[in-house]
Amino acid sequence: PKYERLLLTGAAGMLGQVLRPAMRTWATHLRVSDIEPLGPAVGNEECVTCDLADEGAVRVLMDGVDGVVHMGGISVDKPWRTIVGPNIEGVYNLYESARIQGTKRIVFASSNHAIGFRKRTERIDADDPVRPDSLYGVSKVFGEAMSRFYFDRYGIESVCLRIGSSLPEPKDRRMLVTYLSFDDLITLVQRSLFAEKADHTIVFGASANRDSWWDNSKAANLGWTPKDNTEPFRAKKEAEPPVDSTKPEHIHQGGVYVTFGPYE
Ligand code: NAI
Repeated sequence: PKYERLLLTGAAGMLGQVLRPAMRTWATHLRVSDIEPLGPAVGNEECVTCDLADEGAVRVLMDGVDGVVHMGGISVDKPWRTIVGPNIEGVYNLYESARIQGTKRIVFASSNHAIGFRKRTERIDADDPVRPDSLYGVSKVFGEAMSRFYFDRYGIESVCLRIGSSLPEPKDRRMLVTYLSFDDLITLVQRSLFAEKADHTIVFGASANRDSWWDNSKAANLGWTPKDNTEPFRAKKEAEPPVDSTKPEHIHQGGVYVTFGPYE
């Protein structure tokens, strides 16, 4: 596909700021959006402040958009009432607007927390049943289901990125497995937008790390190969004090998320 107008949601967030300059070169127009300040429009950008939970505002946001990179929303575990607007209503508003607008493809930022209650001894692929580790993880499973439905029913293609840990560098031992470098994130999003055929694809967003828990063979259609890995960080992380490997947060892939809640 070629894009006339790409939309990046969550453009003021950490990953949005990483993707924004690259995405300017991928379409005639780049619309960037967030509920937080976006700074001045650069080059071919259009800046639109929008609350994803506001159906009418999302309808306007999606006007003329043929492809979306959806990074916007609550990005950590929170009480349900905080999550439901951006991550549940927001995802519905986005997909329903895509249907009305005729948007071709959406790249949805899902999360490893959709499967975080998997044990670290398991190796899984995109077809293994989900095991959300938190209300946040449940919201990402919802997004994966919404995108599946809009593909089966209306043919809108989606690539769901189960992002591991995309940060400047891995913060702990777990992230030696889950880390996704910013460079690999950019190529993953690029392949997700431009692969000839996406249908509905779920892909684990991690660099080529040793000891990975995730098999991406079912996302071969994307033609994505990560270039980085966490070996340069290993010695430093492994020199840190050992963790108690009998604790739930060290047994499960989702880490500390398996311990969050209850909130009420
Ligand atoms: P972030 O929290 O820095 O960015 C999210 C952005 O969404 C923020 O700028 C925020 O203002 C915006 N947002 C929140 N509520 C909104 C609303 N109601 N309307 C419009 N915008 C709203 O998070 P980050 O790290 O950039 O993550 C981007 C996406 O990737 C998120 O969907 C997150 O869940 C997902 N993800 C990120 C991972 C990571 O390691 N960075 C790991 C797994 C998933």
